[in-house]
Amino acid sequence: MATPRLGDIAPDFQAETTEGPISFHDWKADSWAVLFSHPADFTPVCTTELGRVAALRDEWERRGVKVLAVSVDGLTDHQAWKGDIEQVGGAAVGYPIIADESRRVSELYDMIHPGEGDTSGVRSVFVVDPKNTVRLTLTYPKSVGRNFDEVLRAVDALQLTDRGPFSTPADWKDGQRVIVAPALSTEDARARFGEDVEEVRPYLRYTSAPR
Ligand code: BEZ
Repeated sequence: MATPRLGDIAPDFQAETTEGPISFHDWKADSWAVLFSHPADFTPVCTTELGRVAALRDEWERRGVKVLAVSVDGLTDHQAWKGDIEQVGGAAVGYPIIADESRRVSELYDMIHPGEGDTSGVRSVFVVDPKNTVRLTLTYPKSVGRNFDEVLRAVDALQLTDRGPFSTPADWKDGQRVIVAPALSTEDARARFGEDVEEVRPYLRYTSAPR
């Protein structure tokens, strides 16, 4: 199966999880979702990653994001591993982990690591919006743990840029100024946002982010 791309509808699936069976689209309903795969249970980098996602629980909730982990390990392993994740990461795992032993979900999202055997997942991230559209994808190799603060930052940027003709500059963080989208002329931007439009170049204009 081809990797779902930006703008695609995130493929729906049914799966067994540590929180019971789910149907992806029904489970996420009209929330944002972060679906992320990990290579294997009881492995070092994955333990830190799932611990970090658990510790960020309030941050996901504040943004209306549901998180969902997946690997090809079974439910017994997932349930046993959750204790380690909690001890190492300092927070209970409050989100479901898919037991994808059949690899149906991993194949649907192209999460199996090429050249690494049949079962090993890559570290993929799919950010899916309330309309089930894939809005952001990341793929990391086994040896590199992901930065989930960056995933939160990207969700902030997506949610903000959905609210107006804005883009976010390099290293932007919530609360900082944003770029006026190129489709809007400086004159039109000033008509809309008042004098709070700084023209650094005719094609690079900053304004305050909407509250
Ligand atoms: C890790 O998470 O550290 C890991 C995952 C798969 C194989 C080896 C290590």
